[in-house]
Amino acid sequence: MKEKLEALKENALKRIEEAKELDVLNDIKVSFLGKKGELTAILKGMKDVSKEDRPAVGQLVNDTRAAIEAALEKETSKLQKKLREEKLKREVIDVTLPGEKVKMGHRHPNQIALEALEEVFVGMGYEVVEGPEVEYDKYNFEMLNIPANHPAKDEQDTFYINSEILLRTQTSPVQARVMEQGKMPIRMIAPGRVFRSNEVDATHSPSFHQVEGLVVDKGITFSDLKGTLQQFAQEFFGKDTKVKFRPHHFPFTEPSAEVDITCFKCGGTGCRMCKGSGWIEILGCGMVHPNVLKNCGIDPDEYSGFAFGIGLERVTLLKYEIDDMRLLYENDTRFLKQF
Ligand code: DAH
Repeated sequence: MKEKLEALKENALKRIEEAKELDVLNDIKVSFLGKKGELTAILKGMKDVSKEDRPAVGQLVNDTRAAIEAALEKETSKLQKKLREEKLKREVIDVTLPGEKVKMGHRHPNQIALEALEEVFVGMGYEVVEGPEVEYDKYNFEMLNIPANHPAKDEQDTFYINSEILLRTQTSPVQARVMEQGKMPIRMIAPGRVFRSNEVDATHSPSFHQVEGLVVDKGITFSDLKGTLQQFAQEFFGKDTKVKFRPHHFPFTEPSAEVDITCFKCGGTGCRMCKGSGWIEILGCGMVHPNVLKNCGIDPDEYSGFAFGIGLERVTLLKYEIDDMRLLYENDTRFLKQF
């Protein structure tokens, strides 16, 4: 028994010393001290040892175990230390190298213009609401007094998901969605992305943005509309800006108008910016058509309202004197960071 233990200890210590990896040390531990290990097997043979010899042999087994454990521990910490040192050597950090510059993002000119615009209307008590970009034909056309086969549908050709669902051509459907809820009075703007099957050029894109405006209450008149848009134009483009209403037609407003502002570049005398006319068109507007109110469950004899639709890119291009809409979408940061 004694020789057996001696041989086992020697063997174990030798293998521990030769081990070069933590996994190997663990295997050694298992194979000697584990449940099915060699030392454990010897322990099981104790029953064959005579009673008198048992304490001495027991002591020997314990000593052997302690020696193996101590050797394992020593070798493990030695190996761990070595591995750590190697790792540190591999991962040297040169703290004197200059840091990598973090490139700060920048708000898009469209977004800057939108926030300025929202500020004006929120200041007048408007709420900012959103509607879905994938919209029902019903909201985009039908409820806005544009029935099937109406020529206005041709001008706003878009991308259809199926015969009832499409990518909205305008933000006007948000008007219907808000009115339908029936919470009076309404004073809201609805900015968002719209889609049309447009060819790309300096002033057109298949996807662009609009800001819809809607006010519905008792006794709202065209003069409220004029005053509101005059105020907006002055706050947004400068206090000397004048507005001009030109009669126009939109199916969802009656009467309807297009609004021009005096050219903020030349002040109205005529320049390249306004193509010599002194005026620049910025939006469409009008009094909400009684049919639209009715379609949305609002009594046109009790309530009236006005609406307007601003092309966001249009005012962004004007405000920053950018001459090509495509620049807004190319994501060239050298361009975008100028604003
Ligand atoms: N939705 C119209 C368009 O895309 C713009 C517009 C005109 C909106 C008049 C309005 C409005 O709310 O009253 O051409």
